[in-house]
Amino acid sequence: MRLDFPLFPEQASTVAGRVDALYFFLVAVSVVFSSLIFMLVGYFAVKYRRRSDAEWPRPILGDLRLELLWTIVPLGIALVMFVWGASLYFTISRPPAEALEISVVAKQWMWKFQHPGGQREINALHVPMGRPVKLTMTSEDVIHSFFVPVFRVKMDVLPGRYTSMWFEATKAGDYHSFCAEYCGTQHSGMLGRVIVLVPAQYERWLSAAAVGESPAAAGARLFQQLGCQNCHRADSGEKGPALDGLFGRPVRLQGGATVFADEAYLRESIFDPNAKIVAGYRQVMPTFRGQISEEGLFQIIAHIKSLTKEETAKAR
Ligand code: CUA
Repeated sequence: MRLDFPLFPEQASTVAGRVDALYFFLVAVSVVFSSLIFMLVGYFAVKYRRRSDAEWPRPILGDLRLELLWTIVPLGIALVMFVWGASLYFTISRPPAEALEISVVAKQWMWKFQHPGGQREINALHVPMGRPVKLTMTSEDVIHSFFVPVFRVKMDVLPGRYTSMWFEATKAGDYHSFCAEYCGTQHSGMLGRVIVLVPAQYERWLSAAAVGESPAAAGARLFQQLGCQNCHRADSGEKGPALDGLFGRPVRLQGGATVFADEAYLRESIFDPNAKIVAGYRQVMPTFRGQISEEGLFQIIAHIKSLTKEETAKAR
């Protein structure tokens, strides 16, 4: 019934229905209690109005049952909101492990996407239906925000760091995406399309789209060019930690802390090598800030990820 109601976009992802259900619950609670309060204010104003100058009300000393009622009922409702919201939040913020990984670079005023096979797109994103897609996003200039209303997902896209979001489309179609953070004069024109294709169509699109080098292959080339292998290979004399099998694993740091080797950790280690030193190594790595573009960084990270995939494949 809501589908013809233009205020709400279609529900085209696995979480869309859950987001809407929570939203309507919050609106319903607000409407019920606001109306209740307004009605009671009106009712009491009439019922207990002063009828003569001589009339004085009896002072009220309190009522324990009432106090308990209006403490426990709102507490219960707030807890329902919290548990419901938190569980949905956890679902939305944890991409499934098998998700298709697409990198996103935002800049004033366009969106650049790259697929794992090397296919590039600008302001349009083709994704398969029925498969989780994870976007790892960054910006070349100011803060943007990637918003796909039909999927009910939105995430800020920040310069200098990675944010990610994921969705699984449930309906084929051509949908809008928006920039949802004011980012300059053409912010309102920073629109895009998300095209959801059934898997067979998606495969056809992938093979038809002009394929450059895959990000992992481009990353391997950059890795050579920048001389990373001088320190980061098993046979490079232990100057730097070997990168095979690193991605997605915990890393022990100097001082005993442990970090999880994800995209953000790799990014930080390349641009700010002082920030976290792996246990057993000295800080000898120079920063590569300014020498690698955002896209180049995605490629190097794709290369490092591919080293882990090879390891896992070998181990099987
Ligand atoms: Cu980009 Cu607003």
